[in-house]
Amino acid sequence: MREGRSAGPALPLRRPATASFQGRRDVILRVNAAPRPEGVSPPLFDGLFGLFSRDIGIDLGTANTLVHVRGRGIVIAEPSVVAKDHRTGQILAIGAEAKRMVGRTPASIVAIRPLKDGVISDFDITEQMLNYFIRKVHERALLFPRPRVIVGIPSGVTEVEKRAVQDAAISAGARWARLVEEPMAAAIGAGLPVNEPTGSMIVDIGGGTTEVAVTSLGGIVISRSIRIGGDEMDSDIVQYARREFNLLMGERTAEDIKIAIGSAYPLDEEVSTYFRGRDLLTGLPRSIEVTSAQIREAIEPSIEAIVDAIKATIEETPPELIADVMDQGIYLAGGGALLRGLDTRVAEATQMAVHVAEDPLTCVVRGCGMIVEDLPKYERSLVMETYSPNSR
Ligand SMILES: Nc1ncnc2c1ncn2[C@@H]1O[C@H](COP(=O)(O)OP(=O)(O)OP(=O)(O)O)[C@@H](O)[C@H]1O
Ligand SMILES: [Mg+2]
Repeated sequence: MREGRSAGPALPLRRPATASFQGRRDVILRVNAAPRPEGVSPPLFDGLFGLFSRDIGIDLGTANTLVHVRGRGIVIAEPSVVAKDHRTGQILAIGAEAKRMVGRTPASIVAIRPLKDGVISDFDITEQMLNYFIRKVHERALLFPRPRVIVGIPSGVTEVEKRAVQDAAISAGARWARLVEEPMAAAIGAGLPVNEPTGSMIVDIGGGTTEVAVTSLGGIVISRSIRIGGDEMDSDIVQYARREFNLLMGERTAEDIKIAIGSAYPLDEEVSTYFRGRDLLTGLPRSIEVTSAQIREAIEPSIEAIVDAIKATIEETPPELIADVMDQGIYLAGGGALLRGLDTRVAEATQMAVHVAEDPLTCVVRGCGMIVEDLPKYERSLVMETYSPNSR
């Protein structure tokens, strides 16, 4: 292993952790007189339902929402974006179609990302999006019993939001819904031995958040979540273009550039692409060649924050578990894990082996799918149920 390098002092979070749960209507909570036992139905029904049921796992991500259906695999993978006419309140598009509208809408239409920064910033829209995706799967299977649903949620969401997500799943047709924190689902999806008495470390670098967690015996022993992920890298690039070249560039363009040539560690062969935007001095369109080294410099603040979060988590992890993690290595999941050289960068900073999980973008939803297929095995890994929503 290469010699370690300090990743520098911890950066203050540049985005304040705002209480971003405004304007939502009150959630009415109902408590069942007799709470249903785990697994919901008696074994006979479970067996019968199991034969036909379209049980669903959902990764409700900041950037992308994915849906896994038992026996069919991942059937939906769409951006978590909703386009709405704000004069009439009408929803115009959800998913990929809505993402194409981002930054391109006329005044009356807004393209909303209801889960910005890893928290639910617009509950009503989140509920409608969840509803749309569940129905999209469900409507093709009207003859089947209503599905059981597992939803992966960012670990930062509040109790009220958790209940709201569970309620939204029920109102969208689920007969039963439970939640799992994303890093736990990611660890399960990455194939880590979460139920064993051994420490496994997963780092899920999503759009809005990076979550670092150490699991053992079915639970999360220690975790840390920062509101820095792929989105922050995109805005780093936008700021860099403005600062260095007086160029105004959209976040979608910045994301394309990051995916095309972004990196966290020097590349064997540096490559280049073009910044396209509007020159702030002349007001005219302009295109400037940029190299992968420049993009690396642009996103460095975000990379450093991610590396610092991993190092800080390691420092807090009990020594027995750290010894396990050293044996097994650190696993990277989420879209950010695809950034070139991030594994090498983390390995160098932590002096540990680092692996990119297989198909990192789908780890969380595959984990949710595995949970729904074997609920007794993963019961301990689910978010504690503090109330039982009524079926509607
Ligand atoms: N090849 C790539 N290189 C770098 N970043 C990438 C690549 N592919 C996707 N991304 C980034 O990964 C992010 C999306 O990842 P992911 O789908 O795991 O997030 P999410 O689960 O929706 O978000 P969160 O977990 O924060 O709620 C986006 O910021 C996207 O730009
Ligand atoms: Mg995610």
